[in-house]
Amino acid sequence: MERKKYVIIMAAGSGTRMGAGMPKQFLELDGKAILHRTIEVFLEACPGISVVTVLPQDHIGYWREYCLDHNFICPQILVPGGITRFHSVRNALARVPEGALVAVHDGVRPLLTVKFAKEMFDKAEGVDGLIPVTPCTDTIKVLEKNGDVLSAMPGASADRSVLYGAQTPQVFRSEVLKSAYAMAYDTAFTDDASVVEKYGKSLSYVIGERLNIKITTQEDLVLARAVLSVR
Ligand code: C5P
Repeated sequence: MERKKYVIIMAAGSGTRMGAGMPKQFLELDGKAILHRTIEVFLEACPGISVVTVLPQDHIGYWREYCLDHNFICPQILVPGGITRFHSVRNALARVPEGALVAVHDGVRPLLTVKFAKEMFDKAEGVDGLIPVTPCTDTIKVLEKNGDVLSAMPGASADRSVLYGAQTPQVFRSEVLKSAYAMAYDTAFTDDASVVEKYGKSLSYVIGERLNIKITTQEDLVLARAVLSVR
């Protein structure tokens, strides 16, 4: 039997790198909040999906009002975030049952396509976890920083041919992700894949979408507008 689908939308960050007055997930991108666009992709890709949106505690009221004002009426479970992304995911997983297929996606990645979101769920049936990655195209330098000065780290190098950047949505069997997130927090946990790997499960990987960027800076916002203008 097909598993019920959930998506956890991570939007509890404070977004300080953007330098805007409010967290970047609420900034407008062509007339709609970034977070609004992100959630819409999953609703279109998987009708009937359950959406768990993780928000800063002090923005839950703001988001409720935004949805009403913009007639964005979709059932969402609103969950307050935690001190780190790990703690935010853990809060959200308390609202996801075992036996489901759960995607965890950054609220600030609105440019993934509907086709890709659907494919991620389709391909995740039958594996413990599926992670989208993009091959590294830049040459990578391993450097150390002394004040403002960068210099080569003696003996350190990185072979570009084996390096990939991890994206979201990362999709898991919910019982696997819930058990992995019951472990103690570790600063090495930078995404969900790193948590599940430490828990001892092997993961599957697929090539993600180059334009599925995480909107972090003003430049990313300019790029996102350009992408939307040609779609
Ligand atoms: O900080 P970073 O850019 O890695 O955040 C990735 C995603 O995780 C963002 O969508 C952010 O809103 C979310 N996040 C969260 N709770 C935190 C920190 C980040 O939901 N405590």
